[in-house]
Amino acid sequence: MTRVAVFPGSFDPMTNAHLDVARRAAELFDRLVVGVLNNPKKQALFDIEERVALIRASVASLGDHVSVEAFDGLTVDFARAHGATFIVRGLRAVSDFEAELQMAHTNRKLAPEVDTTFLMSALEYGYLSSSLTKEVALFGGDVAGMVPEPVGAALRDRFARR
Ligand code: PNS
Repeated sequence: MTRVAVFPGSFDPMTNAHLDVARRAAELFDRLVVGVLNNPKKQALFDIEERVALIRASVASLGDHVSVEAFDGLTVDFARAHGATFIVRGLRAVSDFEAELQMAHTNRKLAPEVDTTFLMSALEYGYLSSSLTKEVALFGGDVAGMVPEPVGAALRDRFARR
């Protein structure tokens, strides 16, 4: 039996907390598809192609069984399209739990055959968020250790040009 999981998110941009979850999920599942939500209603720093490319560069060492795809619409439809029966999400703190519980139940109602699995973010990355790393980079702070190297380079480049 092949266990396939999707790891959906906005990833604007991917942080080391996301990468840690992807790395651990890659060990748990036979195939892992990182799904990057293309939400035109949400103003993103990096467009969908940039986010996909940055994640591809960041997860390159995790193995051929890890892929990265953009998606729009429902996460459960994305999961079904890839034959996935698991959704992976990271939990950093109790504050994440309520929204994640609601999403997990909604997704389960929509697609009972797709289950959500949670991985606790590694302790050293539990404070990280995409929005805070963008703010640090915007004001010239050092994001090393917060984001994968390709993302750090892209952030520096993006804000250097402003
Ligand atoms: O990185 P994020 O922003 O916390 O990810 C949220 C995401 C993309 C997982 C969530 O917004 C999502 O699944 N969006 C797709 C639309 C959907 O399926 N909505 C109903 C389920 S909650």
